[in-house]
Amino acid sequence: MKLLLQMLALFFIFQTTCFVACKEPIECKINDQDPSKVFYTIVVSQSGGGKFSTVKQAIDSIPLENDKWVKIALRPGTYTEQVKIMEKQCIVLEGQDRSTTIIQFDAHSDTEKSVTFDVFAHNFVARGITFKACLFMYCVFELISAPPSLFLFSKFHGTLSHDGLYREMSHTLISRLLNLKGKCVNTYNLPDDATSKKIAPAVAFRSYGDKQAFFNCGFEGYQDTLWDCLGRHYYDSCYIEGAIDFIWGKGASIFQKCSINVTGDGYITAQGKSTSDQLSGFVFNRCIVSGQGQALLGRAYDAFASVIFMNSYFGDVIKPEGWDLWKQTGYKQDVTFAEYNCKGPGADTSKRVPWSKTVSASGVRAYSTKAFIDKDGWIEKLP
Ligand SMILES: *[C@@H]1O[C@H](CO)[C@@H](O)[C@H](O)[C@H]1NC(C)=O
Repeated sequence: MKLLLQMLALFFIFQTTCFVACKEPIECKINDQDPSKVFYTIVVSQSGGGKFSTVKQAIDSIPLENDKWVKIALRPGTYTEQVKIMEKQCIVLEGQDRSTTIIQFDAHSDTEKSVTFDVFAHNFVARGITFKACLFMYCVFELISAPPSLFLFSKFHGTLSHDGLYREMSHTLISRLLNLKGKCVNTYNLPDDATSKKIAPAVAFRSYGDKQAFFNCGFEGYQDTLWDCLGRHYYDSCYIEGAIDFIWGKGASIFQKCSINVTGDGYITAQGKSTSDQLSGFVFNRCIVSGQGQALLGRAYDAFASVIFMNSYFGDVIKPEGWDLWKQTGYKQDVTFAEYNCKGPGADTSKRVPWSKTVSASGVRAYSTKAFIDKDGWIEKLP
């Protein structure tokens, strides 16, 4: 009965919030003849030898009505592009590993427009890829005269353009930028650059479909990094970096053995469960939270916000109060923020807000992967 209600709730959510031609999650066909269970593989490479050189071209080549698992294999490289998968289901995106295979873009502005990689489609798997949202991604283009003086910077959108801007910089900033030459420079991390203080949301990945899974992936940004928007999601051994609300949304998600890097003062999560029967909430199990700055584990993004950290390690980056209601001050009793069996310098719960919940050993069973998001066993069937 409860499962039926949850499924109905899920159905209802997809019916009402998908403003695009929305499809139901299908059962993707599995190729039993193939060790990786897929029907074909599309190789993407920037240095030749692949069918395509961009991720977008590979996605475009898959038929709209695709109903069988297809793999896009990304050769190592930094792919600077903004990608959106609206309806195509049953796609596996596989990199070599998250340190060498990076998809990045710089479109910081509002959350909607800034998304580097946007997946509305159901049945999506990513492995070994870093998704990155860059704020002010500059390339050190040309040294105009000897420092300390002017550098010509170029906003980098796939190709170098000359419409860069001139800026006066300090010695230290110039030397740091030189070290970062050719890389995605997130100016949030360049505090001595006086012009870069403005913080804007920049989403590295939006997960907006049901049955999406991520293995050994990286999500890097500063504010709103991972928009875990809606649907059931499974994150295994992933790396998530940011400072402000950097894991947020209304998804029903398990974060298993993930590494969370706090890069400034802020909030790790902003969960947005909105009704008591909505299948929504973030569960962190066996994760490591470290970094610099002081963060809250979460602030409530809607009245029934639900976040639990269990069996995890917290470095010295968690504020003693732990949690915040944000704009949901009337919903202390409905918000579920809890910690279970966590260790480390940040895990002392004696000064936590009095309304945070405690969970019993039997209570945490409801937050196992199986019980929470995988009653139908979709995860083990994934290619
Ligand atoms: C955390 O992020 C900072 C800034 O990007 C980086 O310098 C540091 O190495 C990261 N720490 C871990 C554990 O990955």
